[in-house]
Amino acid sequence: MEATRNLLEVKLEEVDPEIDTLIREEMQRNEETINLIASENYPPKSAMKAIGSMLSGIYSEGYPGERYYRGLENIDKIESLARERAKAVFGADHANVQAHSGSGANIAAYLSLLSIGDRILSMNLDAGGHLSHGAKVSIVSKLFDIHQYGVNQETGLMDYDQIRALALELKPKLIVCGASAYPRIIDFARFGAIAKEAGAYLLADMAHIAGMVATGDHPSPVPHCDIVTTTTHKTLRMTRGSLILCKKEHAAKVDRAVFPLMQGGPHQANIAAIAVGLKHLTTPEYKAYIKQVLANAKLLASELQGLGFPIASGGTDNHLMLVDLYPQGIDGDTASIILEEAGIVVNKNRVPGDKGTPKKPYGIRLGTPAMTSRGMGLDEVKQVARWIAEVLRNPQDEAVRKRVKTEIADLGKRFPIYLPGYF
Ligand SMILES: Cc1ncc(COP(=O)(O)O)c(C=O)c1O
Repeated sequence: MEATRNLLEVKLEEVDPEIDTLIREEMQRNEETINLIASENYPPKSAMKAIGSMLSGIYSEGYPGERYYRGLENIDKIESLARERAKAVFGADHANVQAHSGSGANIAAYLSLLSIGDRILSMNLDAGGHLSHGAKVSIVSKLFDIHQYGVNQETGLMDYDQIRALALELKPKLIVCGASAYPRIIDFARFGAIAKEAGAYLLADMAHIAGMVATGDHPSPVPHCDIVTTTTHKTLRMTRGSLILCKKEHAAKVDRAVFPLMQGGPHQANIAAIAVGLKHLTTPEYKAYIKQVLANAKLLASELQGLGFPIASGGTDNHLMLVDLYPQGIDGDTASIILEEAGIVVNKNRVPGDKGTPKKPYGIRLGTPAMTSRGMGLDEVKQVARWIAEVLRNPQDEAVRKRVKTEIADLGKRFPIYLPGYF
């Protein structure tokens, strides 16, 4: 009995040195590199404390006040706090905080409004849409009749007249807006008008830009949409999870689509961590952080452009940009590999008018949320742009990559992600 009890107390480094070491190595990798993955960030320690709490073992099928199990009075309060905070931050009628992921949130949202086989009009993956908006390889394309819009191949911008024409012609039951790789402001009011005219529901997936929406630095989709979904771990800088925000009339259907249609018990430790993260969003520090994310992204785009790297759509209004590498004669796959060797972590991405293939597109996507979380500002952005240019102009030169990697590790020491002593 004593032995069983003790197993609960053994420290990670004793019970599983392999995993403990890998976590430490991953922390070190992050400290020594610059993360420009637009969809990643570093969650606050306070939220990580909540996610690492004993709430991880709780079962709580149902919703606050209507559960299947007893013993959930504290859990009910936590989930209610998360829901109320989400509603307050985004000005929504209703919030569901249980969907385990952004993709799951989207599928639950579709199922709450649509029947199987109904028509959806959404942005295609090549233009910056997400898999869960109906890509061929996603279950979404098997469940619904997917039609997609893109961006203008020359300007890189959404063509709202074309989207309107498609909506009026195709008469979809749902229009999906929002993207994973679109660097400009999305005109949600325009989408609202198009949906109304076409007699369609409107869903915005604001996963990438939710941080800017929370602080008022991007127009909110909430007033114009039936449902708004978001992940919690990108610009929102929380732990992984998602939110579904909706109008009052869809609340019961959304809740039923998440549980019991899509999921069983919610992950209450995640929900507690999301509640903590939501509390951060209204602070002056978070508002200043988002302003810096935007300033850093603008500068990174203009510096790279000045160094001879065209940026799709000519710049950025948000936290990310798409770099067109075609003129440099280097594909995005190779670029991401050699940049990683030099300590700069990015992902390959298609750019408008891309002449490559999905596996070897001619672009990379860069984002500033993670580097800004470390306190890096305009001086560091300029240096990062110079490093990127140097590495990409000298793809054969391993010595350049080695030197840049050392310089980046030195920079990392001046901008630690987490101060030691908490874990
Ligand atoms: C716009 C958008 N929606 C949804 C998702 C999916 O989130 P998850 O990975 O949590 O399923 C992403 C992920 O990158 C995204 O960019």
